[in-house]
Parts: sequence; structure tokens; C-alpha cells
Amino acid sequence: MLREELATLREEALARLGEIADTGALEAWRVEYLGRRGKLTQVLRGIGRLPPEERPAVGRLANALKEELEAALATRQARLEAEAVNRALLEERLDVTLPGRPPEVGHLHLSTQTLRKMYAIFAEMGFQIVEGPEVETDEYNFQLLNMPPHHPARDMWSTFYIDETRLLRTHTSPGQIRVMREFRPEPIRVILPGKCYRYEAVTARSEFMFHQVEGLAIGHHITMADLKGVLIAFARKMYGEERQVRFRCSHFPFTEPSVELDIDCILCGGEGCRVCKYSGWVEILGAGMVHPVVLENGGYDPSVFSGFAFGFGVERPAMMLHRIDDIRLFFANDLRFLQQF
Ligand code: FA5
Repeated sequence: MLREELATLREEALARLGEIADTGALEAWRVEYLGRRGKLTQVLRGIGRLPPEERPAVGRLANALKEELEAALATRQARLEAEAVNRALLEERLDVTLPGRPPEVGHLHLSTQTLRKMYAIFAEMGFQIVEGPEVETDEYNFQLLNMPPHHPARDMWSTFYIDETRLLRTHTSPGQIRVMREFRPEPIRVILPGKCYRYEAVTARSEFMFHQVEGLAIGHHITMADLKGVLIAFARKMYGEERQVRFRCSHFPFTEPSVELDIDCILCGGEGCRVCKYSGWVEILGAGMVHPVVLENGGYDPSVFSGFAFGFGVERPAMMLHRIDDIRLFFANDLRFLQQF
């Protein structure tokens, strides 16, 4: 009788176990068949009612069944766990034969590229690079450059003032005084690159922030011929050996005499076009011999020392070289523009 019960229980338990598909149901199965109040325990309790000679054999049978069910449970559990891992792997499956996605590599901004080209040209001529502050004082930006308060020439530079005495530099020329005061009384041959700011309407040719490169040479017997030589060499290295160059009279309070340098228009070769306003010439920089007052302000005796200075933009030359017709593209941060250079 008990033997039959054990056989039925075995069949039922193993059949149920075979249907189980998740580990939660597996635990319920264990409690139902192997738990302290489970079905197998119930059957085992009946052994005590058997005649003594039958008890050992049925007891062995019952124990064997217990072990069999435990082993079947362990096997099923291992199987379910393996299936779960397989399912997870399948869900995360990746195609290792797909081509990789290359990381996006940035590159130098066009202004920086142009600046570096300029540095290389001046480095060959022995110019050192020095940087000055972008927030300047009225004193350095104007007064020490021979423009006392209320001097009308200040109107050439529309200025962002921070307070009564501080401003965003309108040009790199205040660096002239800083370098002179630092290097005095040694000869000087430097360029001073950096950002400048002007309180101006933004147009296709003018930004409120742009770069300039200042040049300064101070020493004994420096003449206008040295200035011309350096600038002609620069213009031809930067814009092409075939460039025609012309100097025009100009005025800056911090140089005397002052000039502006034009090159024949790269775009039309001097024929006349929209960029050169049909004149055939394009202005590229302002320059001159350092004014005696500025030399003195820098701590150099004008009866002993002389020097020249020049200053030019960076974005406008780059526009010429790359035929860009709007300066606003430089800092609009549109990758479609920036990636072309
Ligand atoms: C000056 O700023 C003088 N400090 C240059 C100088 C230095 C003369 C040393 C003598 C001795 P100017 O204002 O012309 O000069 O500016 C020089 C260059 O800066 C211009 O030729 C132009 O290329 C660039 N620039 C000026 N304003 C702007 C602007 N709003 N946007 C873009 N570039 C500008």
C-alpha cells in the first residue's frame, strides 16, 4: 500500500517538477514535496503503522525517493539558472563583426591655425611671443600710448569699460608698454598676440571680439627701413611671394610717423572686386616708428633708443586667404563651417 503511494508520489512530483519554468515555483515545489509538512513526510509518517518486518524495506525506499527528488530538484534548478543566463546573453547579443564607431577628433580653430602660421613667420625673423592681459587699465590701453583722458583719438577705439579705470583691451598695443617695462633696458623683438574687444556693431567685416597680433622692436639705430623690411617679408610669406605691397601715410597717436600697409587683392590680383571695394588693394595692418613719448613711458630714453611697432588682425587675413565672406562665422560655433579648415 505504502509502496504504491510512494510510486504515485514519485511520478506526480517528477512530472510537476518537469513543468516548472521559474525558480519561485521551484521553491513552492520543494515545500510541497520535501518540506517538513510536505507530501513525502506525510507518507513517511505512515511507516510506523506498518508491520515491523516491512518497515526497513519501505524506509529505504522512502529515503531513496527523498534523495532522488532532492537530486532532481538540484538538476532542475541548475537547468533553469543556465537558461536564464542564456536568455540574458541572447538579449545583449552584439555583432562583433560590425565596424567600430571612430571617436570624433577635434582640430584647431581657424583663428588658432592662422595665429600659428603668423608665429612661425615671425619666429624665423627672431621675434619672441609674449602675452598681455585681456582686462587692461585705461592707463595702459590709452594714456601711456600717448592718449590722455579726453584725447579725441580715443574715438578710434569704441571701448567696453568695466569701471572707471578698467576696460577690455581694444587692441594689443598696451602690451608694448608692458614689454618695455619688463625688458628694459635690453633690445626688444617681440610679437604680442591676443583677443581684443570693441563696442562696435557686428557686421560681416567686424566682430566685437577678434584677435590681433602686435609687433614691437626696440634697439639702437632701428629705422623705418627695418620696419618696411620686416613687414614686406611677412606679407610675402603670409600671402604669397608674388604679392605687391604699398605703404600709405596714416595716423596713430603712439607711432610717428605712422603707416598702413596694403597688399594687392589676392582675390582679383589687383583688378578690382567687391572685397577690395574695386580699388585693387586691401589694408592688412597699421604700423609706425614708436613715438618718443611711448618710449619714455616704457622706460627707454628716446635719444638713445628707437623702435618700430605694428598691429594687425587675424580673422580678416584668414578671410582673405580662405575666401570667407562673413567674420561672424568664426565664432558662431557651427561645425559645418569650422570643419572645412
Ligand atoms: C590698431 O588697433 C592699432 N593698435 C594697430 C597699430 C599697432 C598701429 C602698432 C601702429 C602700431 P586698427 O584699429 O586699425 O589699429 O586695428 C588693426 C586691425 O585689427 C585691423 O586692420 C583689423 O584687421 C583688425 N580689426 C579691427 N577692428 C576689428 C573688428 N571689429 N573685427 C575684426 N577685426 C578687427
